[in-house]
Amino acid sequence: MPKILVTRRTFSEAVHALEKSGAEVVVWDGEDAPSHQDLITSIRDVDGLYAHITNQVTGEVMDGAPDLKVISEFGVGYDNIDVEAANERGIAVCNTPGILSESTADEAFALLASMARRTHDLPAMVKRGEWGDFDPLGLLASDIHHKTLGIIGMGSIGSEMAKRAAGFNMNVLYHNRNRRDQEFGATYVGSLEEILERSDFISLHNPLTPETKNLMSTEQFKLMKNSAILINTTRGPVVDQDALYEALVAGEIAGAALDVTVPEPIPADHPLLTLDNCLIMPHVASATHETRMKMAKMCVENVLAGINGDWPPYCVNQSDIAANARLKK
Ligand code: DGY
Repeated sequence: MPKILVTRRTFSEAVHALEKSGAEVVVWDGEDAPSHQDLITSIRDVDGLYAHITNQVTGEVMDGAPDLKVISEFGVGYDNIDVEAANERGIAVCNTPGILSESTADEAFALLASMARRTHDLPAMVKRGEWGDFDPLGLLASDIHHKTLGIIGMGSIGSEMAKRAAGFNMNVLYHNRNRRDQEFGATYVGSLEEILERSDFISLHNPLTPETKNLMSTEQFKLMKNSAILINTTRGPVVDQDALYEALVAGEIAGAALDVTVPEPIPADHPLLTLDNCLIMPHVASATHETRMKMAKMCVENVLAGINGDWPPYCVNQSDIAANARLKK
């Protein structure tokens, strides 16, 4: 009987669907995610891994599971999986693309709107009893309409962000490795420097790769307008957080809203949490009932195909494995 390890508690519908396939299903039921050592211990006789961002699925982990055929990530980003190592071992790696793009863009736009219209700091002021008399010059925010949004990374989430911005009459620029055919009313800007200089809001939607690590650091913050706001819903390491703190304190940029940080969870005594112009959310861009349920469904489809020796529908390394005809059966 094939065995599937689910590394975090999940929807009962997903667990039932896995069990219905006849597989033995083990769900990690700890309050916290399994440690790296827990993962290595639990994966030994597993055929399919239903993984989450909290698992570092390294070559060492894969070597501890000689029967492992498929790693099915619950999420679109899979930077926690060593795909090269999986290629070498003929293990399929899969994710949940597309399905969470709209929810993620919804959150990114909500963060943008919150920072612009100060819903991130003014409610706390009201609760402190500091709402004074009407003041034409007080509590001023920034418009959203007719401002310029710079989208870095115009994949499916970036495109959804562009659509939302168009509805708010924003001027939308995007920077991407390639110029896109469908631009959703957005204008391509070939240089990162230029888009940083021209934008009132910068929203990051590029994946984390060795090239995008610390993409936003001291030099980039200096290029941005002093009134600009940074939104990060991709991965924490894309932003150099020490440089961000310095830029926010020095007024190089006006604010930042982060759904993702380094590390996650961010420690309660982190300097960024002392700043009123920095809003931090606990990595929840895809966290709606509807979207998380759909992600679970895709994750189930991927893992079931993989344990049966078929190509999973959302396999990210099919061509690399196929080139060597090495898919593990
Ligand atoms: C994703 O889908 O990549 C989310 O950030 C959860 O990992």
